[in-house]
Amino acid sequence: MSRMSNSTPARPDKVGLVELAALKRDGTPIVMVTAYDFPSARLADEAGVDIVFTGDSAANNVLGYADTTPISMDEMVMLGAAARRGTHRAFFMIDMPLGAFQVSDEDAVRHAIRLVKETGAEAVKIEGGGSMVSRARAIVAAGIPTMGHLGLTPQSATMLGGYKAQGRTAAKARQLFADALSLQAAGCFAIVLEAVPARVAERITQALHIPTIGIGAGAQCAGQVLVWHDLLGINTGRTAKFVKRFAAVADETRRGLEAFAAEVRAGTYPAEEHTYPISDEEFALFESEVSPGVLVADDWL
Ligand code: KIV
Repeated sequence: MSRMSNSTPARPDKVGLVELAALKRDGTPIVMVTAYDFPSARLADEAGVDIVFTGDSAANNVLGYADTTPISMDEMVMLGAAARRGTHRAFFMIDMPLGAFQVSDEDAVRHAIRLVKETGAEAVKIEGGGSMVSRARAIVAAGIPTMGHLGLTPQSATMLGGYKAQGRTAAKARQLFADALSLQAAGCFAIVLEAVPARVAERITQALHIPTIGIGAGAQCAGQVLVWHDLLGINTGRTAKFVKRFAAVADETRRGLEAFAAEVRAGTYPAEEHTYPISDEEFALFESEVSPGVLVADDWL
């Protein structure tokens, strides 16, 4: 499959499931990015990304948790609704956090409906294959577009032996392949492949008619997703092998904050142009009313 189209693809006014399927069919890579608030989603939308996604990675990237497992439905709803308000053209979707879909199909459908109703999400994502396939089928049957997520699934990282690449033996790769086909058969409209060898991801991508969205899964996936704070260089520590920093926002933010602090301390901010005027007459009147010795009227207090 060609990863580059020969001409600039026409940009749809609004990205929906039909447009995402067409991007895959045309060999135009789908661009997906996480966003957890209004201004970020608006910037992503204006930049022309295809999918804005409030991931449960909000847990570690904006809420300060150690990993994605603690984030609650209420927290996802609050962050997702804000990101949704900034998203107009892109397809907007949200993650189902740990606990929202593992218990039963009914529970999964109930939580998916809540996410759609309270955030305005157009689709949800769930992690895992195996018994999670039936959850995906149930959510799709309830009329909610669903994206799968295979490979390194952070909600079950402990079971996977940590944050490690998945599918690196023939048996494990075969399992991923089978899970991907099952999720497709369950009605998923796309599948994230995270930290999977590029050759395995390519083979899975070829076998599916729905798009794969790679994160650490090589260039042959039908699309790519990265986490906002990773790609913009807001996270500055050690990152996963697949992360590329496309900007240095943390450095720029630090520079701005240090400059603000320095100017406040030096007395150069605020300057004249940052202040509001009052006429000489009004100010003189005011002065006369608050001069020492002038009695303050009762109705001022
Ligand atoms: O939560 C998240 O950011 C994700 C992406 C890696 C797809 O699941």
